[in-house]
Amino acid sequence: MTDPNVTKCLFPVAGLGTRFLPVTKEIAKEMLPLVDRPIISYGVEEAIESGCRDLIMITGRTKRSIEDYFDSSFELESVLRERGRTDLYEKIHAISEMANILYVRQREPLGLGHAVLCGEPFCRDGYFGVILPDDVFVSDTAVMAQLIEVHRRLGGTVVALEEVPRSEVSRYGIVQSELAGGNVHRILDMVEKPSPEEAPGNLAIMGRYVLSPAIFPLLAERHVGTGGEIQLTDAMKRLPRTEPVWGLVYRGRRFDCGTQKGWLAANVRLALEDPELSSVVFDIVDGFRREIRPCPKRDDRI
Ligand code: UTP
Repeated sequence: MTDPNVTKCLFPVAGLGTRFLPVTKEIAKEMLPLVDRPIISYGVEEAIESGCRDLIMITGRTKRSIEDYFDSSFELESVLRERGRTDLYEKIHAISEMANILYVRQREPLGLGHAVLCGEPFCRDGYFGVILPDDVFVSDTAVMAQLIEVHRRLGGTVVALEEVPRSEVSRYGIVQSELAGGNVHRILDMVEKPSPEEAPGNLAIMGRYVLSPAIFPLLAERHVGTGGEIQLTDAMKRLPRTEPVWGLVYRGRRFDCGTQKGWLAANVRLALEDPELSSVVFDIVDGFRREIRPCPKRDDRI
């Protein structure tokens, strides 16, 4: 019997971020701010909250700032202490203590499947989590924890699912599945970015997985799929032959921070949840409304 605990989590962050150019030309997409911290921080917090202790980031050439962010910043910390800014010092220091993080370079962005394969030396001993940090979730229970709970109960691989409009299926990996009970589906097949006509349904895989190490030999075949990339979905679709693959329609709300629209929506939504920042958002909206429809001047009033 394999260990039902999932203590390792992979973060593939070596993608080029073309949907967010030009800002991603030299800045890691994962380091763009989401209110007061970078996007990547939300994924890391989710992994820790879900019980993962060892985090492995698969990084690329323009992603060094991620490593720096989670490292200790000796100079900044001593200046903050000298100036008596204990509150800020503690906040900054805590970032470097958050988790045990390892970094592996994906030398060429050959696709998500290849990025996961780069993590094999650290994850071949048991089931491991995968977090695509572009997908930021707001939920009562961390979405990775929801997946791990299904893995503990049923064993096997588990992916996060969301129902999407049929017109949008070509943006995602789409599953063919049968309902197993509650929000859990047994996955029979999956296809990466199908056309609406080809799609076997409208349940899409979102950026959270509990994966079996059996994925590695399949990825090592380096099958080139959609977009000329080594796709995780192409390897995963062969897993149901040897073990169950479950899909959980997660509880929570997702923001695709890999696009400007999703990133902006996430910033506004998270700001609205903060008592201080929500009034700033409302003031901006009110001011904007007044600019469009100026209030009548005193003398103009009837
Ligand atoms: P995306 O498909 O969102 O690609 O990758 P991307 O490069 O990040 O962004 P766009 O599409 O060009 O705008 C999904 C996840 O897989 C990682 C990405 O960093 C992201 O977390 N990835 C993708 C890699 O780590 N390596 C790759 O070769 C490709």
